[in-house]
Amino acid sequence: MINSNKNKPIGIFDSGIGGTSIWKEIHELLPLEDTIYLSDSKNAPYGIKSSKEIRNLSIKNTDYLIENGCKIIVVACNTATTNAITYLRSHYNIPFIGIEPAIKPAALQSKTKKIGILATKGTLNSSLFEKTASNFKNDIEIIEQIGVGLVELIEEGKIYSNEMKSLLTLYLKPMIAKNIDHLVLGCTHYPYLIPVIKDIIGNKITIIDSGLAVARQTKNILHSNNLLRKTNNHQKSEFYINKDKQVLESIVSKYTNAMVFNSDF
Ligand code: DGL
Repeated sequence: MINSNKNKPIGIFDSGIGGTSIWKEIHELLPLEDTIYLSDSKNAPYGIKSSKEIRNLSIKNTDYLIENGCKIIVVACNTATTNAITYLRSHYNIPFIGIEPAIKPAALQSKTKKIGILATKGTLNSSLFEKTASNFKNDIEIIEQIGVGLVELIEEGKIYSNEMKSLLTLYLKPMIAKNIDHLVLGCTHYPYLIPVIKDIIGNKITIIDSGLAVARQTKNILHSNNLLRKTNNHQKSEFYINKDKQVLESIVSKYTNAMVFNSDF
């Protein structure tokens, strides 16, 4: 791989602003790397769409990031990963990193042998998720719950609303009643809900969020492809969104003074 490829940015996309929970980990773990983040908020939520629609949106986002010179693509969305990453990997000549609900660490650590998974319908219904879950179903009980409406509220910036609290209570109380000891957040939007979730589940249930694991995997794959950048005087982050940018701006401004641009991708 020629040196100039190393200096290209990492491309990251999600159906909306949730993938910034992954972007943040990559930005911190890899301070020499530039990033381009796509928030496809116009098409959020992906989780209620068909597998084919999710795949087509993932192709559109990938094309945009490749046109903008990205050397690797991080699919910072469980729904897009579980429905499209196999296709993307077989049709593009560039490495892809994905994120899937972290059943394995939860299953290995669980003492009650009961774990909860909160994710979108698109993720829980995907064949990739089914396959992973079936590896553990003999040893543990997996309580699945679709997070209907959560992504929409997060996209509107309503994390601490009464509506959010009621929905989360409705989704999590049955899991608590079943005695889960681990809760897997199977959607990259959900880490922003952790304070609200903790108020409901208390401190006896461990929350599993795999943002840092994805950043580490990105580093490993860049390294094995000889794509890790060696020098950078000014780490550059760019954000593009195809809907109102206020909520995305308020999130990223906590970590960087980079600009958020409106774009029609
Ligand atoms: N952040 C996406 C995920 O991880 C949200 C999916 C959606 O838009 O429904 O699944």
